[in-house]
Amino acid sequence: MTVQMNVMISADDIQAKVKQLGAAINQFYANSNKELVLIGLLRGSVIFMADLCRAIEKPHELDFMTVSSYGGTSTVSTRDVKILKDLDGDIEGKDVIVVEDIIDSGRTLSKVMEMLKTRNPNSIELCTLVSKPSRREIELDVRFLGFEVEDRFIVGYGLDYNQKYRHIPFIGEIGL
Ligand code: IMP
Ligand code: MG
Repeated sequence: MTVQMNVMISADDIQAKVKQLGAAINQFYANSNKELVLIGLLRGSVIFMADLCRAIEKPHELDFMTVSSYGGTSTVSTRDVKILKDLDGDIEGKDVIVVEDIIDSGRTLSKVMEMLKTRNPNSIELCTLVSKPSRREIELDVRFLGFEVEDRFIVGYGLDYNQKYRHIPFIGEIGL
C-alpha cells in the first residue's frame, strides 16, 4: 500500500526550529539555579523531546507521563484527564517544561498544567512543536512554540494517525 503524503514542514525546517527552541530554553533558564526537568507527554512528544533535549545545554532530567482525555456524560466542560502513567520523579521546587507534540483544543494540556501546578514546581512552562491556534478552546500560555499551522490533520515527527506515521522525519498531510 502506498500512502500519499504531502510535506508541510520539512525535516530540515524541523531541525532548525528545534535548535532555536533549545537556544531559547538555554537563555530563559540561564539565571535559574533550580533543577530543570522536561516532561514529555507520551507518546506523541517522544521524537521531538529526543531532539530538543540534545539542543539544551543546561543539564536537565527527562520524565514522561501518559494522560488520556475522557468524557463526562453530557458536556465537554465536564471533560477531565486521567493519568495512565504518572511521572517517575518529583517536580517540587524544579523548573518544569512540559513538552507536547501539538496543541489543538488545549483541553488536555490545560488540565495537565493545572494538575502539575499543585505539585509546587518552582516554575512551569509549555513547549510545543506545533500549535493549531484556530482550534483553541482554552487559552494556554505557550512559552516555547515551534510552528503554527492551519486546521489540518498532520502526521510525522511523533504525530500519528491511528498510531502510525510517528517515525516519518517530516510533518505532512496524508491523503486518506
Ligand atoms: P487537545 O489540544 O487537548 O485538543 O489535544 C491535543 C492532542 O490531539 C495532541 O496531543 C495529539 O495527540 C492530538 N492531535 C491534535 N491534532 C492532531 C493532528 O493534526 N495530528 C495528530 N494528532 C493530533
Ligand atoms: Mg498527544
